[in-house]
Amino acid sequence: MVITQATVKDMEGVMALLKANHVSNMTEEEKKNGFVTTNLSEEQFVRLVEEEDGVTIAKDGDKIVAFALAASWDYWKEWPLFQYMIELLPQTEYNGEKLSVENSYQYGPVCVDKDYRNTGVFEQVFFASLSNMEKRFPYMITFVNKVNPRSYAAHTRKALLDEVVDFSWNTNNYWMLGCKTSNRP
Ligand SMILES: CC(C)(COP(=O)(O)OP(=O)(O)OC[C@H]1O[C@@H](n2cnc3c(N)ncnc32)[C@H](O)[C@@H]1OP(=O)(O)O)[C@@H](O)C(=O)NCCC(=O)NCCS
Repeated sequence: MVITQATVKDMEGVMALLKANHVSNMTEEEKKNGFVTTNLSEEQFVRLVEEEDGVTIAKDGDKIVAFALAASWDYWKEWPLFQYMIELLPQTEYNGEKLSVENSYQYGPVCVDKDYRNTGVFEQVFFASLSNMEKRFPYMITFVNKVNPRSYAAHTRKALLDEVVDFSWNTNNYWMLGCKTSNRP
């Protein structure tokens, strides 16, 4: 297994894994093991790689088996949910500090191919992504839908994230989770 930062050449594999885990393409049974709601166009993928170095992947041979996305709030601001989270930041304290678009970034979505779940790949990709962003930001922030208990369990038990605040948006209930980028197991 190789954990590395993606290049534009990895787009097809990442997009295929994202599509397979997107809520719009999944059965109710599949959703019990998690789902993602963020969509990404090819143009957004290219900018994420080239401007943010924001795609961490796990490769088994040539196959991309996991990815984690991460970028500044400036990158994410065109998605309505992230606009809402940006508004929440200044009202939100974590670790005794007010959050901001300067001191934090948004991580996620993250996906692990179903054949590679519960193998440790999740933690490897998560901490590689965190370490890559540590040079730019002291805090990492993400969101998890409250009806995604597998993701909540993985992020709080294995990625060691804290609950920052909970919030509702567009009829869904979410946890805002976070950690210091220097956090390690
Ligand atoms: C979320 C995801 C990245 C986690 O990676 P993973 O390899 O599955 O994570 P792990 O299996 O190592 O850890 C998940 C934990 O949740 C537990 N779990 C599994 N299903 C669960 C459920 N329905 N409710 C609560 N906990 C659950 C597992 O037992 C495991 O904990 P344990 O090892 O302590 O027993 C992966 O499942 C995935 O890609 N899901 C689809 C996409 C997704 O949901 N992405 C996140 C969006 S925020």
